[in-house]
Amino acid sequence: MKGLSGKRVVVTGGTSGIGEATCRRFRDEGARVVSIAVDDGEENIVCDVADAAQVERAFARVDELLGGVDVLVANAGISIRAPFLEIREEDWRRVLDVNLTGIFHCAQLAARRMDEGVILVTASTNGLTGHENYADYNASKAGVILLARTMARELAPRIRVNAVCPGYVLTPMQRAEYTDEMLAAVNDGIPLKRHAEPSEIAALFAFLASDDARYITGAAIAIDGGETA
Ligand SMILES: NC(=O)c1ccc[n+]([C@@H]2O[C@H](COP(=O)([O-])OP(=O)(O)OC[C@H]3O[C@@H](n4cnc5c(N)ncnc54)[C@H](O)[C@@H]3O)[C@@H](O)[C@H]2O)c1
Repeated sequence: MKGLSGKRVVVTGGTSGIGEATCRRFRDEGARVVSIAVDDGEENIVCDVADAAQVERAFARVDELLGGVDVLVANAGISIRAPFLEIREEDWRRVLDVNLTGIFHCAQLAARRMDEGVILVTASTNGLTGHENYADYNASKAGVILLARTMARELAPRIRVNAVCPGYVLTPMQRAEYTDEMLAAVNDGIPLKRHAEPSEIAALFAFLASDDARYITGAAIAIDGGETA
């Protein structure tokens, strides 16, 4: 990808799933990558993105490791499955705090370090259409999309900001939640008849961070095998 070699990249949630694949892809492109996540991992700073003070400390460490930030992939996120009528307030707040406020914290600190740069956020097709049993998650992801679009307007032309909206992605944890029958049933409802691989989402992040995407900002891009079509 044009222009990624030597870029200083921060990926949140880089220890698992989409984030892990994204770290690998950017490293393969010659970028210098640091992850920020709650659990331990290689070249990872342990930090809860919902906690402003922890995020401040994490970015101070990023400064020591990379000397600045050119690309942020704000990807850390959680979901808690529950019917709307049974969502507990503490769970509602936690999902919003991690998925939406976490991106606010990281994007603000990253943008303040950028002369020119790219901020990419992981939203979801759940931020585009309603999905049962994930009201808090869906609301957080819809918020992520408009946060990204607003940042795109305010930070242009120095910084491009885009939201990526994956559909069903077969991460190891997601696979563990399915029986073979459940996986087959979900696949059958997707026009391309399969889940995405994490590496396919990582490839979109790499493209959007590259110079090839220099005219793309303020977009919410679905990568969903046709799910929302
Ligand atoms: N897997 C899917 O099907 C799918 C679909 C659409 C969108 N997404 C979104 O993609 C992103 C990554 O999902 P995944 O399936 O790869 O997740 P995952 O559970 O495999 O990994 C989550 C990562 O986020 C980190 N994380 C979680 N809470 C955190 C916190 N409070 N502070 C810092 N880091 C934290 C974890 O340490 C881990 O590195 C999430 O935002 C998720 O909502 C996933």
